[in-house]
Amino acid sequence: MERENFGSKIGAVLAAAGSAVGLGNIWRFPIETGQNGGAAFIIIYVLCILMLGLPIMISEFLIGRYTHANTAAAFRIVSNGSPWKWVGRMGVFTGWFILCYYVVVGAWTMHYAFLSVTNTFADVPAKEYGDIFNNFVAHPWLPTVWLWVFIGVIHYVITRGVQSGIEKSAKLMMPTLFFVAVFLAVCSICLPGASQGLAFLLKPDWSKVDSTTVLDAMGQAFYSLSLAMGCLCTYASYFGRTTPLAKSAVNVAVIDTLIAIMAGFIIFPSMFNIGMDPNEVGVGAGLTFVSLPNVFQQALGDGSFLAVVFSTLFYFLLFVAALTSAISLHEVATAYVTEEFGMARKKGAALVTATILVLGTLCSLSFGPLSGVTLFGRNLFSVFDDLSGRILLPLGGMLISIFAGWVLDRKLYRDELSNGGVLKTPYFKLLVFSLRYIAPLAIGLVFLEQTGLFAFLLR
Ligand code: PFF
Repeated sequence: MERENFGSKIGAVLAAAGSAVGLGNIWRFPIETGQNGGAAFIIIYVLCILMLGLPIMISEFLIGRYTHANTAAAFRIVSNGSPWKWVGRMGVFTGWFILCYYVVVGAWTMHYAFLSVTNTFADVPAKEYGDIFNNFVAHPWLPTVWLWVFIGVIHYVITRGVQSGIEKSAKLMMPTLFFVAVFLAVCSICLPGASQGLAFLLKPDWSKVDSTTVLDAMGQAFYSLSLAMGCLCTYASYFGRTTPLAKSAVNVAVIDTLIAIMAGFIIFPSMFNIGMDPNEVGVGAGLTFVSLPNVFQQALGDGSFLAVVFSTLFYFLLFVAALTSAISLHEVATAYVTEEFGMARKKGAALVTATILVLGTLCSLSFGPLSGVTLFGRNLFSVFDDLSGRILLPLGGMLISIFAGWVLDRKLYRDELSNGGVLKTPYFKLLVFSLRYIAPLAIGLVFLEQTGLFAFLLR
């Protein structure tokens, strides 16, 4: 079967950036930054990207582009069938797992965009936002309906194929996302009291930095760049032979970091405007669906036109960010089943969609009718989240860096990186050094921290 490629270099970068820019940029990065020393955290985060993120991203790009195959096959080919081939399969399944809970949150963003545009938040007392959210997620069918719509959109894009589906949607959605983010950031910065919010995000406070800050920054960099889940490897398998791998990776990392910082510009000025202390709010769903809808109403005028526009655009932004990431995760699994089991794209995509419909629905219901179903005291949603994010992701990242640094043929690496000797690669030695020593060690520590083993060992 003829394999499709992305039609342009910009399309390839935008698709990969679409994978990277997601919920992690908006619902986690800003608060993590603010609470962990502002610019000090950003500096550490950027260092993590330079020292670990980029080397691993480049390696994933390289393995994907070299093999022009789905992630499982790609690792099988470059590992010559040795046990390292399992790293590829693990990536595929980790991505699949993440997708099952990621779509649930994607669906929530649609519901909140709907509530915003219909001005439902007008005159809601601050203390009721928690109930609105809790009642919604516990509702027996409403979140599931949104979930199916969200999955339907992903399915539509995937079945259209690499160029007319993934690339075309990324070319449309990524610029849209960027302009919406800029618009919201400018609006927020114009609010009275905005400077305090910007200072919270940008003023370096090194006293807040300790070893866990560094580990948090690493974990965030990993998740945010979509590493170790086959996404970048799969997308790179559609890169043309002349696509510059290192430059594309740098572009993706820059876009991802810019959007994450811009999310802080959107959130903090409005929070400070109403006198809310960001140190008191958590990251994730609580921030996004409980604190922020209230913040937007208070800061922009309860029930006002501006509040409707701002709030709607914010949840639209989240929706687009979640959608492009979810598409990339779906594509990992679709490429895998179509190529490994010789299925037509439509059939393979339908199979993957069916699995996430089932598992995603179970995750979604785990806040309502299925809340009694728990494993180690966690509902299904958290089981999927923790297993993929805390265990499989760092483990995969570590194995990829070890494989790329120690096992993968050095000449092959250099040839592919330089596009057959066309591009200069003065950073090559540094890259290999990071892959061999820095990345495995650092990610090993993240792994120990994320799994709680660190705290256990230090007791
Ligand atoms: N990078 C996405 C985010 O920041 O939300 C999440 C993600 C997407 C993680 C795709 C992993 C992945 F393969």
